[in-house]
Parts: sequence; C-alpha cells; structure tokens
Amino acid sequence: MERETYNDKVVRQFTLATILWGVVGMTVGVLIAAQLLWPALNFDLPWLTYSRLRPLHTNAVIFAFGGSALMGTSFYIVQRTCHVRLFSDRLAALVFWGWQTVILAVAVTLPLGITQSKEYAEAEWPIDILIAVVWVSYAVVFFGTIARRRVRHIYVANWFYAAFIITVAVLHIFNGLVIPAGLFKSYPIYSGVVDAMVQWWYGHNAVGFFLTAGFLGMMYYFIPKQANRPIYSYRLSIVHFWALISVYMWAGPHHLHYTSLPDWAQSLGMVFSLILLAPSWGGMINGIMTLSGAWHKLRTDPILKFLIVAVSFYGMSTFEGPMLAIKTVNALSHYTDWTIGHVHSGALGWVAMVSIGSIYALLPKLFGRKEMHSTAAIDLHFWVATIGVVLYMVSMWISGVMQGLMWRAVNEDGTLSYSFIESLEATYPFYAIRLLGGALFLSGMFIMVWNSYHTIRAGNSAVGVPVMPASDTA
Ligand code: HEM
Ligand code: HEM
Repeated sequence: MERETYNDKVVRQFTLATILWGVVGMTVGVLIAAQLLWPALNFDLPWLTYSRLRPLHTNAVIFAFGGSALMGTSFYIVQRTCHVRLFSDRLAALVFWGWQTVILAVAVTLPLGITQSKEYAEAEWPIDILIAVVWVSYAVVFFGTIARRRVRHIYVANWFYAAFIITVAVLHIFNGLVIPAGLFKSYPIYSGVVDAMVQWWYGHNAVGFFLTAGFLGMMYYFIPKQANRPIYSYRLSIVHFWALISVYMWAGPHHLHYTSLPDWAQSLGMVFSLILLAPSWGGMINGIMTLSGAWHKLRTDPILKFLIVAVSFYGMSTFEGPMLAIKTVNALSHYTDWTIGHVHSGALGWVAMVSIGSIYALLPKLFGRKEMHSTAAIDLHFWVATIGVVLYMVSMWISGVMQGLMWRAVNEDGTLSYSFIESLEATYPFYAIRLLGGALFLSGMFIMVWNSYHTIRAGNSAVGVPVMPASDTA
C-alpha cells in the first residue's frame, strides 16, 4: 500500500508568496519613507500619493507577507505535529488562491482611493466578504487536520495558531459590519466613539493575534527544531498561552488616550497593557532559554541568529508597548515617530525576522535539499537586516521624543516655542537615516531571493514526504 504523504505543495506556494510579498511590501515601505523626505516623489499622480501608498504598505507587509508566512508555516507545522496530511487538498488550494486574490484586489483598490479609512481594515466590503470566506476555509483545513491527528497531544505551536485563526475571524467580522452604499462605498453600523472603540479593539488585537500569536506559534516550532533542543519549559508555554490571550483583548483603549472615550475605559486599557508585559516576557524567556546548553550554535548557525534576535526584539517591543500605554508617556509619544519606531521594532525586528529565519529553515526541506544554497549569504542577510532595523528604530525614537518635546514647549507668555514646520525641518535628518535603514533591510530581502532561487533550482520537490508514524517525534 502506498504511504500517505504530507501536502507540501501548498506550503511551498505560501513560502514563495511570502518572499515575493515581502519584497513588494518593503519596496513600498522604502518608497513612502523616501516620499517623506522628498514629497515630489509622488510625481503628482493621485495613485502614487503618500496617503494611498501608506495603507498599501501596511496591507502588503501585514496581510500579504505576514499572512502568507503564517498560513504556510501553520500548514507545515500542523501536519508534522499531528502526523497526518492536511484535512483537504482542495480547500487548502482554495485558501492559497483565495488569499492571493484578496491581496491583488487590495493592491488595486487602495491606490485607486477605494477605502473604508479604518486602519488595517481599509478594504471595502466585497473584499471583506471574500476575506471571510477564505478565512473560514482556512479554519476548516486547520481544525479539520487537528481533528484527524494521530497523536492525542496537541503541540503548543498549534494552540497559538488556533487562537490566531479564531480571533482574527471574530475581529474581522465584527469590525467589518457595514451598510453598503454601492459596490465601493459603505458606512459602519457603529457611530462616534463606539466606532472608534470597535476599530481599536480590532486594531490592537490585530497586533496581538495577527502580528504576535501566530508568530509565537512559529517560534515554538522552529527554535526547538533549529537548536535541536526541547522547549525550555512546556509548562511555561501553557501559562504563556492562556495569560496572553486573556489579557490582550482588553488593552485596545490605549490607542485612544485623551480622546472622547470614557476615562475609565482608557485607564482600563492602560492597566491591561501593563499586565501584558508579564506573559509577553514569559514567552520571550521561554524562546530564548530553549537555547540553554546550545548557545554555541549561535556562532555558526545564522538561521538560529535570525530566530533568537527576533525573539529579543519581541521582548523589546513588548517592554516598550506597556510604557507607551502609560497615559503620561503617551501624552508625549502619541502622533510622533516614536510610535513608528515601536511599530517597526515589532514589525521588522520580530515579525519579519522570525518569518525570515523560519523560511530559511523550511525552504530546503520543501525542495528536497539538506540546507540553503549559501550559509554565508544567510549570515550576510542577518547582519544587513539587523543593522537596518537598528537604524530604523533608533532614528525614530530620537525624532519621536524630539517632536513630542518641541510640540509641547511653550514660552513664558504661553505661546508655542516652535512652529510645526520647525519640528518637521528638525525631523528630516532622521527620515534620511530611517530611509537608509529600510533600504538595508530591503537589500537583505534581495539576498534571500538570490539564495532561495539557487536552493530551489538545485532541489527536487517531485517526491512527496511520507507522513511520519505517530510513534516517532515530529
Ligand atoms: C505588550 C505588548 C504591547 C503593548 C502593550 C503595546 C502598546 C502600544 C501602544 C501604547 C501604542 C501606541 C498607541 C498610540 O499612541 O497611538 C502601540 C502602537 C502600535 N503597536 Fe504596540 N504594543 C505592544 C506590542 C507590539 C508588538 C509586538 C507589535 C508588532 C508586532 C506592535 C505593533 C504596534 C502597532 C502596529 C502600533 C501602531 C498602531 C497605529 O496607531 O496604527 N505592538 N502599541
Ligand atoms: C524595508 C522595510 C520597511 C520600511 C522602509 C517601512 C517604512 C514605513 C513608513 C515610512 C511608514 C509610515 C510612517 C509614518 O507614517 O510616519 C510605515 C508604516 C507602517 N509600517 Fe512599515 N516599513 C517597512 C517594513 C514593515 C514591515 C515588515 C511591517 C510589518 C510586518 C511594517 C508595518 C508597518 C505598519 C503597521 C505601519 C503603520 C504604523 C502606524 O500607523 O503607526 N513595515 N512603514
């Protein structure tokens, strides 16, 4: 009898899509970073204006790059840890092609100015419906595979992916409730401050579940695998899971400090954000300490360097986040580049670097190779990316604090010490450093494209990998 094999085709497709959308999304990031320095770069074309390209960037990096990385790795991990092929090949193919259709639809409509104007939920209602259909199919494939598993135990990485899938469905559906007014226009069913609260309940949990929980699933699989060590503490991983998912939901109001949102709700958001430090650091410690007894591997394995540095950035941004949530700190940081620095220490340092490390670990396996074509190129990519993130983050920290201080400075007679234009002029050098950092990070992605191309060219993906008997470890 022929042995059952894993469905790696869909994983390969998502892996290649991740690299492609990473390059596209970050190229748009570099372009908008350059536009802030040289506004003339919009060439007076409406669809090249900053206001339209900025949401294109966020959607491309979060949903196209991050989403493809999450879907691909979750399909790989759930099969390997459940010792079974994906629940349905057809539905898995629908998830891949459906998601790519969503991405293309968003990439066309946003530059045309078709938008709901809600951050990270800009796509208009017909695309939202397609997203809901694809997402439910994704959930059916993932949970269907878990239901068919050949081992009793559900490995912790799957818990994190499961929370990510369920929560994003709930967030997307409730934040997307609108009354259509034509094919490309709609109005939310909520109004005023309730609309703002629902939006930031969505926005913050998009960070917590899209940009965090799923990527923690990646961490819990690829760090132990790459280090060839068990997780530092399995018990801590369970505590980490339950604490993180129960606290995240309540922190959204920190995005609405000093607005017309009731004061008690703002304080609630602040307190839950401070509590969130504990589970976040529990997770970080668990990831990093998995290297106990194998620290020396960091010297020779650049993939492990990507993964561990990513977790360190996760620790940094989840320390900074609770600080920014304190109302008095937020009074200084809000509207400034400090927020942008925080975002990218999480987005580039954590999300992008853990995805890149995981793909380097995964790609050779998917294409029948022992390792990537060039380890030296991975090392080079690591250094270029790390220097890029640091330049990006530090320049935005400095310019953010500077902007906050300049905007609040007053003369003895109570008039403002600086005009807005003066603060903008003072920001330019930092925009230039950020552009350099972003360009470096993007150049690392091109090194990855080169390395992946040569790995795939010499590889062989024709033979399927047989499902491992349940008695063996995953
Ligand atoms: C304990 C964890 C975290 C807390 C408590 C937290 C808190 C905050 C706070 C207070 C803000 C500023 C809100 C404002 O002034 O408008 C913010 C913004 C943001 N954070 Fe975090 N953060 C955390 C972790 C992360 C991580 C790990 C990422 C990315 C992977 C991230 C992504 C973002 C994004 C994208 C924004 C900007 C939202 C917007 O205004 O568009 N955060 N966060
Ligand atoms: C080459 C890499 C990148 C560059 C040069 C870049 C550049 C930028 C720029 C210039 C902005 C607008 C800042 C502003 O309005 O002042 C921005 C916003 C943003 N980027 Fe990136 N980015 C890069 C990669 C990424 C990645 C990989 C992610 C996510 C995984 C990401 C997520 C975001 C988010 C969420 C925002 C909105 C932040 C907010 O509203 O507070 N970026 N990026």
